[in-house]
Amino acid sequence: MNIDQIGWLNDVHIACAILSGTGYLIRGIGMMRESSWLHNTWVRVLPHIVDTILLASAILLTIQIRQYPFVQGWLTAKVLALVAYIVIGAVGLKYGKTMKIRVMAWLVAMLLFGYIVLVALTRQVLPYIG
Ligand code: HEM
Repeated sequence: MNIDQIGWLNDVHIACAILSGTGYLIRGIGMMRESSWLHNTWVRVLPHIVDTILLASAILLTIQIRQYPFVQGWLTAKVLALVAYIVIGAVGLKYGKTMKIRVMAWLVAMLLFGYIVLVALTRQVLPYIG
């Protein structure tokens, strides 16, 4: 692949990251207000489409820049944080038994999301520290 393709792939990845994060934020607000629109088909399906493209673009980007998880520390951190975000994120929106558990899990998931973005921007496991 030539250098021009890195640009649009990065753009797709960033666009999906923004959609994924804001989508999770909005669904969290719906969860706290116990809104019925959370059960709409599109609200349930769209995040999976966005997250699939996010992950696919992530894999293609690692191939393009020839840096891989479990080789480069910052990409390992991204993958592990992503897994934690998915698991804790699901507790926040769905599996948490009480509202308190769901809200706590949702907050932790939002922090994990922020951490992933900072790791992406700095290419550091401990963003701005080292
Ligand atoms: C919630 C999940 C993710 C978010 C929010 C996210 C966010 C971002 C952002 C904002 C950038 C742009 C950085 C920049 O242009 O300076 C980026 C780049 C990148 N991401 Fe992700 N990402 C996620 C998941 C992943 C995963 C799982 C991987 C790979 C295992 C990955 C691999 C990459 C690579 C290789 C780049 C290009 C870095 C560069 O060229 O400097 N991302 N990501």
